[in-house]
Amino acid sequence: MTDFRRFNLKTLDDLRGDLDALGLELPISGNTGVLGEKVTIGDRDLPNRFVIQPMEGVDGDPETGAPTELTYRRYKRFADGGSGLIWAEAVSVVPEGCSNAKQMRITEENLDHYKKLVEETKAAGRAEFGHDLQFVVQLTHSGRFSRPGGVVTPLKVQHNPFLDETLGMSDVEPVSDDYLDRLQDDFVKAAKLSAEAGFDGVDMKAVHGYLIAELLGSHTREGKYGGSYENRTRFLRETAQRMMAELPKSTFVTSRTTVLEPCPYPYGWGVVPEAGKNWEVDLAEPKRLMKECFEMGMPMFNVSVGFPRFQPYMNRPHDNSLVGEGNPPEYPLVGVERFQQTVREMQQSLPECPVPTAGLAWLRHLMPEVAAGLVEEGWCSLIGLGRGAFAYPELVKDILKEGTMDPSKCCTTCSMCTQIMKDGVGCGGCVLREKEIYGPELKKGRVAAKAKGLA
Ligand SMILES: Cc1cc2nc3c(=O)[nH]c(=O)nc-3n(C[C@H](O)[C@H](O)[C@H](O)COP(=O)(O)O)c2cc1C
Ligand code: SF4
Repeated sequence: MTDFRRFNLKTLDDLRGDLDALGLELPISGNTGVLGEKVTIGDRDLPNRFVIQPMEGVDGDPETGAPTELTYRRYKRFADGGSGLIWAEAVSVVPEGCSNAKQMRITEENLDHYKKLVEETKAAGRAEFGHDLQFVVQLTHSGRFSRPGGVVTPLKVQHNPFLDETLGMSDVEPVSDDYLDRLQDDFVKAAKLSAEAGFDGVDMKAVHGYLIAELLGSHTREGKYGGSYENRTRFLRETAQRMMAELPKSTFVTSRTTVLEPCPYPYGWGVVPEAGKNWEVDLAEPKRLMKECFEMGMPMFNVSVGFPRFQPYMNRPHDNSLVGEGNPPEYPLVGVERFQQTVREMQQSLPECPVPTAGLAWLRHLMPEVAAGLVEEGWCSLIGLGRGAFAYPELVKDILKEGTMDPSKCCTTCSMCTQIMKDGVGCGGCVLREKEIYGPELKKGRVAAKAKGLA
């Protein structure tokens, strides 16, 4: 591991210097025009290569699960910014699967609010650019990380000593096959409501240790959802097939799927299937799943890696950690490169399936040339923006017009937006760039955490 140090790069030459010194590889290209190219996703075109990746704002109505004024505002700002595809954050399909008291949840009763969210977001994109952006919603169940009403209520799918002990969940019994059968119906129902609301696509969230991601590695679970590859991937594949059969043709089905749930075998996913040693990456099964999903009719496949709770340096390389956590164990550039190499391996195993990348925020104003390099060299088809878009929603506009970003507007990977999400009390957004709105929200969560004696 490299020693941790913070971002201190001014120019692309500085970046090249660090990459060379550390033996890392990231393609860099001055041809940022490539980022403005149209991309075909199944039967539709995206106006450019930028995707807003899902970013939970923790600002849903705690009573109804509907979006609120802050939610409408966040998505309108993303649309004003110019991305061709907005991937809305995790929206729970059942009350018990919410990750916090204010996670959004789509129901028959609150459907009009989601219709409004889609209409306003799409109208903003049309007004600013004359383009029709695609809007995907991420449907989720938080599994062992469920916290409905703010109360930790784990719904795990298998015993996993590596997670159970750390999370204090050894005594929790895994959910039954009957529960998972009913949950398939809940996902399909939420997908139909999403189509009715006007979303162009529906994502079955299978990343970051949440329920469907955990199922992928449920080697020790008995019954039809555990053991063999076919059983472990059954929930995702069967539910997606049901969605494809039951949704109108105008709504596509996709998934943001983990390619690495890092636990020693027989736990974990995307790891070498050999017991008795620490985990090592093996993407054979994630690649197989992506190919099957593509052949089944998913027009694109979004990916991520790791548990944000335990390896945040893998999925959101950062300079500042959450309160109470030490510095990351490595120089964040190493994490940026590792994420891009992983996406590269997935994308190049199936070049005809568009795969977006993520994890680029740490690069700040040096991101556009790296993004252009990644696209030119075929490491990914789309450039995903997470924290970068929270901080600087108009960055796409700037890159497409000027080819550059304003360094004074960039995300600094300070982790304050994640802190808000973890505390689960305030509403989430960029504390650094929108202090007036999100500063007090951060404070609310911190005060509540301290009152409970937490870090
Ligand atoms: C505050 C916050 C909320 C997030 N919410 C989600 C989410 O709802 N669904 C998801 O798949 N990823 C979520 N992510 C992960 C991001 O989509 C993205 O993969 C990650 O931030 C790394 O990309 P970046 O460097 O562009 O930020 C979240 C990340 C942050 C920081
Ligand atoms: S609060 Fe803002 S600057 Fe800090 S990590 Fe989040 S988006 Fe980036």
